[in-house]
Amino acid sequence: MASVRPKGKVAYDNRERVVVVTGGSQGIGHAISTAFVQSGAQVISLDLIANSDSDVIQTGIETIQCDVADTQACEAAVGQVIHKYQTIDVLVNNAAIQPVASYHPIHELDESVIRRMTDVNLLGYLRMARLVLPMMIQQNSGVIVNVASGQAHRTAREVGIYGPIKSANVMQTRQWAVEYARQGIRVVSVSPGAIDTPMVRASLETQGGEASLANRHPVGRIGKPEEVAAAVLWLTSEDAAFVTGTDLEVDGGLGAFGAFADPY
Ligand SMILES: NC(=O)c1ccc[n+]([C@@H]2O[C@H](COP(=O)([O-])OP(=O)(O)OC[C@H]3O[C@@H](n4cnc5c(N)ncnc54)[C@H](O)[C@@H]3O)[C@@H](O)[C@H]2O)c1
Repeated sequence: MASVRPKGKVAYDNRERVVVVTGGSQGIGHAISTAFVQSGAQVISLDLIANSDSDVIQTGIETIQCDVADTQACEAAVGQVIHKYQTIDVLVNNAAIQPVASYHPIHELDESVIRRMTDVNLLGYLRMARLVLPMMIQQNSGVIVNVASGQAHRTAREVGIYGPIKSANVMQTRQWAVEYARQGIRVVSVSPGAIDTPMVRASLETQGGEASLANRHPVGRIGKPEEVAAAVLWLTSEDAAFVTGTDLEVDGGLGAFGAFADPY
């Protein structure tokens, strides 16, 4: 069947919107930021990695160097965005870590790894939401997107910290959606399957190699960051005005694959 809309063509008009993405310098966050830029939005990425002026000109993504685990740095960054643009319409909580050192049973994990993952992946999402919500309440509109994971919904070995925190990201979504629904604010999440990003590339060996990882997805491949970005663009659009508190799995069927299903 012919596609109604040519693939890769961004159909959304985000020219009036200011979008803050955490972790927009690479991977899924970069694809989300790029998709928003292509649809006309003003995009500000808060990332540990500072982009050069030429990167900003080339990508259109403004970057503020910021560690989402650092409350003062987040306050300063959000303050800077509001001072410059007087609004924040969309927050994408995307910056999270899954270091190779975290792929161990929990009793073997170094506490510093657990603390850092909690501070970035769980409290980072909370910290950023708390900072943008007053602006969104004041303007009676806004969308928060939490990037969760397929590992929020089902188990795997050696993700005993990452998985439960990703589940918490889904519950943050539901809680905040309910709390702020009457104030014009929607809160949604996406749960990607394995996506081709530097994070996944760094852990391929731990996951049995690319072919094995691809084969665990019913579609037979891992996903592209742009495929997650496409879902985020829809979720943040007016087309999704009645969607809040929802988690959308963007995972090539991984979540539908049952424990009793025959392996490929
Ligand atoms: N890649 C996947 O297969 C996959 C699957 C499911 C969920 N996710 C989730 O998607 C999100 C993005 O993952 P990715 O694979 O693109 O990761 P990535 O490591 O490739 O990129 C993450 C980006 O976040 C930035 N970042 C990391 N820690 C930060 C901090 N403390 N403060 C500010 N910026 C920080 C990094 O500099 C980088 O630019 C994460 O929430 C991850 O848990 C990824």
